Amino acid sequence: MDQPQASPLLTATGFCKSFAGFVALDHVDFTLHAGEIHALLGENGAGKSTLIKTMTGVVQRDAGSLTLNGEEIAPRSAKEAAKAGIATVYQEVNLAPNLSVAQNLFLGRQPTRLGFVREGEMRRRARALMAEFGLDIDVSLPLERYSVAVQHIVAIARAVDLSARVLILDEPTASLDAHEVEVLFAVMRQLRARGIGIVFVTHFLDQVYAICDRITVLRNGRLAGTAAVAEMPRMDLVTMMLGHELSEATHVRPPHRDGGETLAIFSGFGKAGYVEPFDLTLQKGRVVGLAGLLGSGRTETARLVFGAERADHGSATVAGRQVGLASPGEALRLGFGYCPEERKTEGIVAELSVRENIVLALQARRGVLKPLSRREQDAIARRFIELLDIRPPDPERPIGLLSGGNQQKALLARWLATEPRLLILDEPTRGIDVGAHAEIIQLIRKLCAEGMALLIVSSELEEIVTYADEVIVLRDRAHVARLTGDALSVSGILGAIAADASQAA
Ligand SMILES: Nc1ncnc2c1ncn2[C@@H]1O[C@H](COP(=O)(O)OP(=O)(O)OP(=O)(O)O)[C@@H](O)[C@H]1O
Ligand SMILES: [Mg+2]
Repeated sequence: MDQPQASPLLTATGFCKSFAGFVALDHVDFTLHAGEIHALLGENGAGKSTLIKTMTGVVQRDAGSLTLNGEEIAPRSAKEAAKAGIATVYQEVNLAPNLSVAQNLFLGRQPTRLGFVREGEMRRRARALMAEFGLDIDVSLPLERYSVAVQHIVAIARAVDLSARVLILDEPTASLDAHEVEVLFAVMRQLRARGIGIVFVTHFLDQVYAICDRITVLRNGRLAGTAAVAEMPRMDLVTMMLGHELSEATHVRPPHRDGGETLAIFSGFGKAGYVEPFDLTLQKGRVVGLAGLLGSGRTETARLVFGAERADHGSATVAGRQVGLASPGEALRLGFGYCPEERKTEGIVAELSVRENIVLALQARRGVLKPLSRREQDAIARRFIELLDIRPPDPERPIGLLSGGNQQKALLARWLATEPRLLILDEPTRGIDVGAHAEIIQLIRKLCAEGMALLIVSSELEEIVTYADEVIVLRDRAHVARLTGDALSVSGILGAIAADASQAA
């Protein structure tokens, strides 16, 4: 049945954008109503971020018109868009890490008196704003002291405070834990009730069904369809995104693997004030998962194992020999690989090509005296572009120009290229679309079958139970439970986390 249609708040018509002959947007139409949360979906590289950037004038479009409340607008920068009432939080948050939370919230628009910034007033308003978001934090501390999650919420609070009529969120939830997602959703619902139209980009389909009203799907730069969430069953949605059906193989749990040959043993390993001493055994052909809330010590454990942070307790043995693990260089020589969570700060080198980014770790391991020939580099880059379906499949493109999810895949390729004995992955499927998710899980299983040892940090419990042989649950920077066999289930993990929460309360 037709709903009486409110006149649209924001309308993009016939948006086109090409980058040096590559068509990123091809006559895309998009409509946003006041008081709706509208999911913008599609595979990695489908054009979601480009649509957003061309609407807000961050990237100039080749064709198309934009109206806000029926009036044509043509913002030429994010600032102009914000002035017109379109606030945006981009996929890669760009705030000043060394400035305080309050300064970040009011950057460029501090309350002033006779030209002097009124610090007290600014802090008071910052506290009130963060409280609206359910965060009780010290706003005078530098932003970098807080988790990525808090940093994201600060970016959103900053955007929302600009008396926005349209709020665009490009993958805001990629680094939030379940509780923080709820905090964000509460704020989004509040803003929706105020009549703000929200564009929400996410790769988490559960979130689409939890909070969105309508969906627009892009595929290869074209509009694949628009529908009300209630009228779009999940399988149809996935098919619309991929252009074909998703294979169900990834939902099936593989047969339990018995431990293979032991690769590494950590005993009483830890660092004061960082991670409590823990015991950990890694075996060839086996996946150990690290689960727990954000900040529970999962990434910290991974960094200790890789020598990115130096342990001050316990010992580590690799292939029967005692090792110091004093630096990532040493870990690399031992055949360890580590694909970190924060691809922008710890991962990619934006100006370098996809090829150069992929061969980086392998080259580092070989040392400067044994440079890889150009021919070897080309072969490696091509192999992994194909294996991981990195798009567009051009090894010479600067990696910064790839979509977020494709950058993530290239980072994974960098470590696979070193053929590590142990591969540590921190949130390997973050920011990666449903189709590629399935591919990466298949890949994890394949690597495992070939004898690689894996240590994987993941917030996606449904997923981790399908590939892990053992899951370690962390809380407050300590390893608190080890689940294997029948105990290894989503409810088992949640139970271990919840037991922690009730203890803490
Ligand atoms: N500045 C640019 N120069 C060249 N190509 C670009 C540029 N920006 C984007 N592209 C290309 O346009 C396509 C669409 O990218 P976009 O970032 O919009 O994808 P996305 O849907 O946001 O993907 P993801 O889910 O991975 O974030 C990609 O193939 C990307 O490589
Ligand atoms: Mg994007």
